Parts: sequence; structure tokens; C-alpha cells
Amino acid sequence: MKNITTDFLVIGSGVAGLRAAVELVRQGEVIVVTKDIPTESSTEYAQGGVAVALSDEDEVGIHFEDTIKAGDGLCREEAVKVLVEEGPERILELIEWGAEFDKEGTKPAFTIEAAHSRRRILHAHGDSTGKELERVLINKIKSFKTIRRMQFSTAVDLIIEDGRCKGAYVLKDGEIIAVCAKSTLLATGGAGQVFSRTTNPAVVTGDGMAIAYRAGAVLEDMEFVQFHPTVLFAPAAPQFLLSEAMRGEGAILRNIFKETFMKNYHPDAELAPRDIVSRAIISEMVKTNNSHVYLDLTHRDAGFIKKRFPMIYSTCLRYDLNITKDLIPVSPAAHYMMGGIKTDLNGATNIKGLYAAGEVACTGVHGANRLASNSLLEGLVYGYRAGVTAAPKEAEIQSSEFRVRETPNSKTPKGTVPDLRTPTGVVESGLSPSCEEVRTSLRRLMWEKVGIIRCGVSLNDAVESLSKWKHILDMDFSTRRGLELKNMLTVALLITESSLAREGSIGAHYRSDFKERGEDRQRHISVIKTTEGIKAVQSCVKQK
Ligand code: FAD
Ligand code: SIN
Repeated sequence: MKNITTDFLVIGSGVAGLRAAVELVRQGEVIVVTKDIPTESSTEYAQGGVAVALSDEDEVGIHFEDTIKAGDGLCREEAVKVLVEEGPERILELIEWGAEFDKEGTKPAFTIEAAHSRRRILHAHGDSTGKELERVLINKIKSFKTIRRMQFSTAVDLIIEDGRCKGAYVLKDGEIIAVCAKSTLLATGGAGQVFSRTTNPAVVTGDGMAIAYRAGAVLEDMEFVQFHPTVLFAPAAPQFLLSEAMRGEGAILRNIFKETFMKNYHPDAELAPRDIVSRAIISEMVKTNNSHVYLDLTHRDAGFIKKRFPMIYSTCLRYDLNITKDLIPVSPAAHYMMGGIKTDLNGATNIKGLYAAGEVACTGVHGANRLASNSLLEGLVYGYRAGVTAAPKEAEIQSSEFRVRETPNSKTPKGTVPDLRTPTGVVESGLSPSCEEVRTSLRRLMWEKVGIIRCGVSLNDAVESLSKWKHILDMDFSTRRGLELKNMLTVALLITESSLAREGSIGAHYRSDFKERGEDRQRHISVIKTTEGIKAVQSCVKQK
């Protein structure tokens, strides 16, 4: 097996991984491994913006309060404090590096989204904020000669020896490479692809969460999946996000009969918390026996719409929808994972040498429901902190300790595909037809049984169906798509088991059989692998 040694390994090139790499390189060589082209990530597609208390009418204390309120009683207050207090510095630094946020005259333009009590969301090119962040951060890391980028390289598993993480096995061009490092940062993003309806790009398959779980890391809050209320619902169109900023700028929701309805569900109407808007939409869809509702911005000036939402305007136009004139068919979709690999405030996990940051991690900053536009900020703040902490802490270790032992342990990926069948187009993409079917069925199952509204019966059904595919967890795959299926199945089980364990409704986790918040509202559900398998669900008391 090919062996590469570096000081620091970063897995993922979204906002969190890139921001961490900029700090790590101050103490040594860095390799950034990414599954696709470097920009392919949720970060790249982020629309609404980045929340930060920088406007004249705002204060970090108010941003703190709004975040805590959105988190529905489960935020880790210390983590929120770090986010809102360090956020302004991280944004100003990004502007110094060349980020251009939209302006009103000479001042930054701030928009508003659901559950924010102030206009505090900076945006770029109207609705392409994430693209701007990726552009600036990728340019920044290109300026360091000692950051090496490996694209089309998929992390398979961590190298764990003597209880310590010593890098990761990476699949590149059909070959497994051991990338050995003093510290490894997982920044692989969320897991939206586990659901058949999602805003997330194809790379977001929960890999980091599954990889960490297999290695013995603790994961927390996995039941909290945020569903975005307004995602394009049109036969030939992709599941394209229609930013909450549109509602921030006055867009109205209407049912199929063109009636407004949000006031019937919440006093904040269209700007109620996301989980409430998503459930209201589902309720209207059921009442009207239809598959979607409408988002309506037609009352706003066409010139304003085209200038404020240029990317959304042009994308919808490609699917015969003119958002300045037409009602836009929408329904909710899986969007963001509040849960993930449990870390401290510096990205450290329970495994020595292993760090996590961004959507893959759970610092507790979002509690049971994330405040809109807080995650790009989280990637910057916690990516930075993980980089700053991991570098000096791990740098003193001798590089010579970081070679994989000559005799690979039993966990070394074997790189075989046991179920490979005839050389059809499907096999080329990495999965045999039966596995492609599992992938589709799994995503549909999660959407139907573990989606916006869950109950004990639907969750138990899901566990039973997922268990039929458990043999996949023991398979070795030598293709990205095969590895993704295994990871998606792992994460699907973790989400479902955690959802079963929380017998109450809180934040984004809504159980129709336990509509009240329940006794365990002060608790976090954590999962760790045991010899009995995935069923290890524990509760621990809420952290301050
Ligand atoms: P990502 O940006 O998802 O990056 C993950 C990286 O890991 C990618 O490079 C991926 O290729 C790589 N990767 C994954 N698995 C592997 C593997 N096995 N091996 C190697 N590499 C791997 N948040 C906001 O704050 N504001 C917004 O306006 C906003 N809008 C959004 C719009 C959309 C459509 C979506 C999907 C999300 C939006 N979010 C928004 C959420 C936010 O974009 C994400 O939470 C955030 O960008 C996550 O950053 P990250 O660095 O953790 O992960
Ligand atoms: C959006 O633009 O609606 C997405 C914002 C977010 O998820 O934070």
C-alpha cells in the first residue's frame, strides 16, 4: 500500500476544512483531501448568507439570544458565546483576504431570515454567498506552498493505532493510500443525501460521521435534522433551494388555492422558525391533497428581484419559471445536520489526534435547531479554532511515529467490491444494480419514515428495513459510490436510533406520538459503537 506522510491531514474542502488548513499550515505541512473538485461542497451552494453581529443595530448579545432561542433549549451556551463573539473577527479577516459582501451605498447590506430579531446576514453577489467564501478561501490556501491538495480522493477510514488517530486511508484512482499525519481533521460536511429530498449536493453523504463512528468516536444529537421549508418542486427541475432570504425580503407562502396560511400557524408567519414553517407546509399539502405549496415574490419589483436574487432568478428561468411573475412550487427538503461528531470548543474529539469542524461536528452550538445562516459562521469560527489548537498540540510529535505499521491491521481497507456484477454503466459508477436499488430505497425510506414528522411506528419500521441491509456495513468497497452507500446506511441507522431514543418533540425533531417536549428535553442523545453494534444510545445531561 502506498504511504504518504504529512504533518496535518484535512478531509474536506468546504468552509471549515479550508479555514482550518490556513491555521494548520503555520505549524507544518498540510494535505487537504477532497472527494470531488475542490469547490464541490454545501459551502459552494450556500445562498442566504452569513450571520454576524456587525450592523449598527445589532449586538453579539442579541445574536446569542436569537441562537439560543432557535436551538429550543438545547444549545451549549459556551459554544454559542464563542460563535457570536469570535464571528465578527473571522468575517473582518475574510474581507481583508478579499471577500466582497454586498453593500448598500458604502455600508454592508444586511438581510434577515427566520428567527433573527435583527438584520444581520451578510450576503455576496445577491444569493451566492457560499461561492464567494469558497473563492476567497481556496485562493488563500493556494498561496501556501506547503498545503497540498488531493482532489477526487475519498477518505475511507481512519488509521487508528494504540487508540490514536494517525491519519486516514484514502481512495484515489482506484488505489488505497495511507495518508499518515500527526493530526487529522474531519470537515466532510453533513449527511443530506441520506434523504431522498434534500438541498445538499451529491458529495454530502455523511462520510465523516460514519468514518468517525467506525473508529470509536462519540456522536451526539443525531436526531436533529433541519428540513428547509422552500425547495423547488417541479417535475424536471433539481431540488433547488429557494433561500429563506426571499421570505426575509417579503416572499409569501400560499397553498395550492393561492391562500396565505402561515399566520394560522405562528405569529411570525413566513419568518417563523424553519421547523414550524416546514410542518405548516406539510399540513397544507395534506389538507389540499397536493404535493407542494407556492412561494410568491411577485408583488416585489422585478428589477429588485433580479438584482437581489440573480442566481435564483436565472436558475428558475431555466425551468420555465419567471420568479418575478410566477408563483414558485415548493416543498420542504432535508437541509442541515445539527448533530455530528461530538467535539469540545476546539474541535477535539474523544479520539487522540482526531479533530472535527463544520457541519460534521457537534459542538452543541445549534442545539435542537440551527438559526439560519449560522453555519457558514460556524465553519469559520470552529475551523479556525480546530486549526489553532491541533497544530501546536500535535506538532511536537515526531513524524517518524506516523508511518503505518508494515503489517496492516484487520481494519485496513481491502479494496474489494464483493457484489460487482456485469460491466454496465451502473457498475462503472461504482455500484452493482442491487446496491443502486438499496441507495434509492434507503433515501426514500428515510424521507418517508424518519422525515419531518416521525413516530415510534415509522421509526421502528425504518430500523427494521435498514437492518435488512446491515450486511453492507461489513463489505469493503473500492469505489466512492460503494463507500458512500455504506456510510449513508450507518448514518441512517444513527439518525433513526437517536430519533427513537428521544421520546419528545423539540426543535427540528418532531414526534407525532410525543408532541410534548418530554422529560428528556434537557438531555443529549449520544451514540458510540459497542460490541453490540449500533444500538448504543445513551443520554447525558445538558451541558452549559
Ligand atoms: P461542506 O461545505 O459540505 O464541505 C464538505 C467537504 O468534504 C466537501 O469538500 C466534500 O467533497 C468533502 N468530503 C465529503 N466526504 C468526503 C470523503 N469521504 N473524503 C474526502 N472528502 C470528503 N449555511 C449558512 O450559514 N448560510 C447559508 O446561506 C446557507 N445556505 C445553504 C444552501 C444550501 C443549498 C446548502 C446545501 C446549505 C446551506 N447552508 C447555509 C449550510 C452550509 O452551507 C453548510 O452547513 C456549510 O457550508 C458546511 O460546511 P463544511 O465545511 O462543514 O462542509
Ligand atoms: C437559505 O438561504 O435559506 C439557507 C440559509 C441557511 O441554511 O442557513
